Amino acid sequence: MCGIIGKVGVGNVFPELLNGLKNLEYRGYDSAGVAGIIDNKIIRFRQEGRISNLEAEVEKASPESFIGIGHTRWATHGSPTKDNAHPHISTNGKFAIVHNGIIENSDELKKSFLEGKIQLSSRTDTEIVVQLMGLFYKGDVISAISEACKALTGSFALGILCEDTPNILYAVGQSSPLLVVKGKSGNYIASDFCAVGEGTDEVYRLTDGEICALTEGSIRFFNPSGAPIEKFPEKAEFSCVAFDKGNYEHFMLKEIFEQPKAVKDTINSFLKENEIVFPNVKLYDNFIKEKLEKIVIVACGSAYHAGLVGKSVLESLCKISCSVEIASEFRYSQSFINEKTLAVFISQSGETADTLAALRLAKKKGAKTLSIVNVTGSAIAEESESVIYTKAGREVAVATTKAYSAQLASLYALAIFMGGIRAAIDTERYKRLVEELRFLPEKIKRRITTLAPQMEELSKDIYKKRDVFFIGRLNDFATAAEGSLKMKEISYINSQSYPAGELKHGTISLIEEGTVVVAVAGKSKVFSKTASNISEVQARGARVILITDESEKDCKVTAEITVTVPETLKEFQSSLLVLPLQLLSYYTAKLRGCDIDKPKNLAKSVTVE
Ligand code: AGP
Ligand code: GLU
Repeated sequence: MCGIIGKVGVGNVFPELLNGLKNLEYRGYDSAGVAGIIDNKIIRFRQEGRISNLEAEVEKASPESFIGIGHTRWATHGSPTKDNAHPHISTNGKFAIVHNGIIENSDELKKSFLEGKIQLSSRTDTEIVVQLMGLFYKGDVISAISEACKALTGSFALGILCEDTPNILYAVGQSSPLLVVKGKSGNYIASDFCAVGEGTDEVYRLTDGEICALTEGSIRFFNPSGAPIEKFPEKAEFSCVAFDKGNYEHFMLKEIFEQPKAVKDTINSFLKENEIVFPNVKLYDNFIKEKLEKIVIVACGSAYHAGLVGKSVLESLCKISCSVEIASEFRYSQSFINEKTLAVFISQSGETADTLAALRLAKKKGAKTLSIVNVTGSAIAEESESVIYTKAGREVAVATTKAYSAQLASLYALAIFMGGIRAAIDTERYKRLVEELRFLPEKIKRRITTLAPQMEELSKDIYKKRDVFFIGRLNDFATAAEGSLKMKEISYINSQSYPAGELKHGTISLIEEGTVVVAVAGKSKVFSKTASNISEVQARGARVILITDESEKDCKVTAEITVTVPETLKEFQSSLLVLPLQLLSYYTAKLRGCDIDKPKNLAKSVTVE
């Protein structure tokens, strides 16, 4: 999940590396480091924590090198200390590397190659790689890289320096994203285009263990065995918009308030007159109508929760069975999918390693693949047969809000689109659904401003609690799960979500006097059932916050606090019911003094398994 940047070219690379790392910080912020070559010697700077700590150290030393690599870390092996920070250097001093990924056989390699020969200076899996390169090096760098990489299993994107070739920057890409970018003042490697300062559109992706050697004016490619290969650049139109918080204290709050626009832009991108049209979706009518037997949605985290909502909307509007799978589980389970399956992958970043691997598996099994992705040109978007782009714009806060809402809107549209083709909904219903979908951004906008002060007030009741429970049924369970994830992710309060009917099978033993239970219950056929579950927890002393819609505000449930959102069709309710939950977690985290946009232990893009 780490971020990698590297450059060889004209001028001092260190300022550029540091700037690049700032744009990669969303990939991890446990520690950061840079290395260059000065007077044929590798020089390295590393610091725990944020890039700003590293920047201070580098500025003090003001080193100058025209070649260098940089890294921002999300630790997988070894705690986030300075010793474990990248770049790692081989004991013989010849090689320095930065790594994104996991070396799964690092312990075995340590035993078979390094024991008794080399004293390791970190607890990372990465150090083994650089030590192997040092060990295999007999004067030919490409051979040493190739030999070392052949011994590795797992995923790795590597940026490499060798002291003996101070004009050449090396890179390897195997199951972790790495771009090679031709620049104007030199050539770059980067985990994300955003890290590269100067605009150029000539980009290569390193895949399947390919090796690359870059100098200021040349880029050469090699296969994993070290034999030269030809590779053609993609004319990628990556855009990297500058981002700032504006008048908001945190990106998360700004993004919560950007939801009406995110949903509107997303809906407008496929609403033509009164019809839903997906320009990049190669799903032919006869497949949807006659061949399609089931839909499988695969995603992680919040995107998985969006999938849970999508399942019920797709099942209700398309009359077809739909399952939702957590990508990291789906990859290793018996996935009964075939050419009659539509596999839908949801991902904000379009980079999540497990979701990407699940997509590749589905393709292998012949399923039709469709992804719902926010980042243009990302791996998941590029590799799936059809793409629906959510138009949330760049999301900076680690906790997703506007991208989640845009995912929901896309799933609704997909369900209406497919329901129409399958004739599972008649023309009147189609029209009604489209009309209401069009109004959704306005309803979000109308309520969000008034909700904010209300939830800020409510957070004062919650921020000192040890636990918070979230319950709901069906779609409302998905919303409860998303609310619970938001709460634990940014406020570090132990929050748990349960289908409301499941509490009595165990969890209710945790309810005691004063326990906060957030119950999500929009208008639906199960409202009265959730109402009974609310009474059950109240009978055991719980303090219930009911999140419901205006149509249910006079319901028989006497919750301690009731928060309402505007009414909409039951299919779209989740988009409104989630708003108070996002705001509640935001204000609770703020009162607890948490680092809201960069919560501990997390990263925005999860490119390791
Ligand atoms: C949500 O707030 C998360 N930070 C996380 O669960 C996220 O949704 C998940 O990692 C999936 O990411 P993706 O959408 O980029 O694939
Ligand atoms: N496994 C390496 C480490 O822990 C890289 C981690 C990553 O890419 O997230 O340092």
